[in-house]
Formats: sequence, structure tokens, C-alpha cells
Amino acid sequence: MEKDTLPKIIIHNSISIDGSLTNFEQNMSLHYQIAGYYKPDVQLIGSNTIKKGIELYEDDIPREEKKDFEKQDRSKILPYWVIIDTHGKLKGLLHTCRRFEFCKDVIILVSEKTPKNYLNYLKERNYEYHIVGKDNVNLKKALKLLSAKYKIKTILTDTGRILGNLLLNQGFVNEISLLIHPVIVGKKSYNMFSYINKNLKLKLIKKVTLENEYIWFVYKVKK
Ligand SMILES: NC(=O)c1ccc[n+]([C@@H]2O[C@H](COP(=O)([O-])OP(=O)(O)OC[C@H]3O[C@@H](n4cnc5c(N)ncnc54)[C@H](OP(=O)(O)O)[C@@H]3O)[C@@H](O)[C@H]2O)c1
Repeated sequence: MEKDTLPKIIIHNSISIDGSLTNFEQNMSLHYQIAGYYKPDVQLIGSNTIKKGIELYEDDIPREEKKDFEKQDRSKILPYWVIIDTHGKLKGLLHTCRRFEFCKDVIILVSEKTPKNYLNYLKERNYEYHIVGKDNVNLKKALKLLSAKYKIKTILTDTGRILGNLLLNQGFVNEISLLIHPVIVGKKSYNMFSYINKNLKLKLIKKVTLENEYIWFVYKVKK
């Protein structure tokens, strides 16, 4: 019964045919077209994923400007980016996310262990943040908070193995959307599912060939 109040969660990833999340060239255009198809209220993202994305796409971190300290007021149909960052790994970097035109604004989830200087950094820049958990972020509490405070119904999580597998292991994921790329990564594979701790049963609900060589599979997770 309780789970009914939690938002619907879709994990969306681009992977090689041997299940790797990294070490191959991703078709970002297709990846984001599919992400947009879900029209999520929130994109839930791990701090490692954000950090890696900044390393890949920003040559230099731009200087903060006055407008980086202000809340964004973009279209209501855009998703919030909700980022879990209890250690303050993204201190000094968050304006690169806030500036992204397809992000409504950034919300940060932290814990009671989060350094005070990171909380001050967030306050000074008017980021909404929430303390949900003692050491790590308590994912169930976080999902309930997003549902109650922001009326979030659909969350797309385009993140790495760590957060994706935590959500799967704790039973919060409704669908898995996989954009399969025609490549084998082999030894350097960073396998998408290798922290899963029990067999998960799935039902295939979508199978589409894109640009003749990519396959988009969507699976429903059987509860
Ligand atoms: N191919 C794709 O579609 C795709 C998509 C996204 C990312 N990636 C790749 O994936 C890699 C990054 O992924 P990753 O697996 O390192 O990490 P990740 O999915 O970014 O997850 C790390 C997140 O999990 C949180 N976390 C860790 N333990 C937790 C716990 N016990 N309870 C609650 N939250 C917890 C961390 O929070 P704290 O910060 O608070 O510790 C952090 O926010 C990058 O190389 C990126 O390029 C690929």
C-alpha cells in the first residue's frame, strides 16, 4: 500500500551489448530523445555521474556570476535535477548544472553527516536542499519527500551503477529503459547490474530498432 504513494521510477541507460555503462561512445542524441519521451518531473542523478559529466563536457569550470546565485524560473514542464551529494563533491560545480537549459532547477539531497561548509555553499546560492538520512541519503524518505513536497509523479534516473542498483535492490524501480549500442566493451566493461543482489524478474514492454543499429528495450520490473 505504502509504495503507491512513491513516484514511478524509470532507470534509463545507454549500454553496450555486454552491459557496460562506460568506455564506449554513446549516441547522446538518441539517449536524450528517449529521456525526454518520459516527460519526467525529476531526473534523479548520482554525484559521480554529475562529476563525470562535467569532466567530459566542460573544458574549464566557468566563473560564477550573479545569476548563478538565483533560483531558476524555467518552464514548468522541465524536470528538476535532484542530485544526491552527502559529501559535497559538487561544491563549486553546481552552477554548471543550474545553467543547463533543460533543467528546471537543481535540488540537493544530503544527510546529517554533510559538511557545514557545503550546506552554506548551497544556502548562499539559494539551492533547495533536504537532509534525508543519517550517513547516506535514505532513498525511501527521499522519494516520499519528493512526492509530498513537490508532487512528483515520475522520476527518470539516468545515473550510474551505484545509485541505479541501490534503487533496484530496494525495490523502488518500475521500469528499466535500455538503449543498446552495437558495441562490445569486454575487459573494460563497467557492468550496469553487477551490484544487484538477487534475480529480478522483468516483463518486456517495448522493443524498437532505432537508426537501424540501436535497440531500445523497456522492461517493467515485476514486484
Ligand atoms: N551509459 C549511461 O547511460 C550512463 C548514465 C549515467 C552515468 N553513467 C556513468 O556512470 C558512472 C558514474 O556512476 P557510478 O556508478 O560511479 O555512480 P552514480 O550512479 O553516479 O551513483 C553514486 C551516487 O549514489 C549515492 N550513494 C552511494 N551509496 C549510497 C547509499 N548507501 N545510499 C544512498 N545513496 C548512495 C552517492 O551519494 P553520495 O554522493 O552522497 O555518496 C552518489 O550520489 C560514470 O562513469 C558515468 O559516465 C553512464
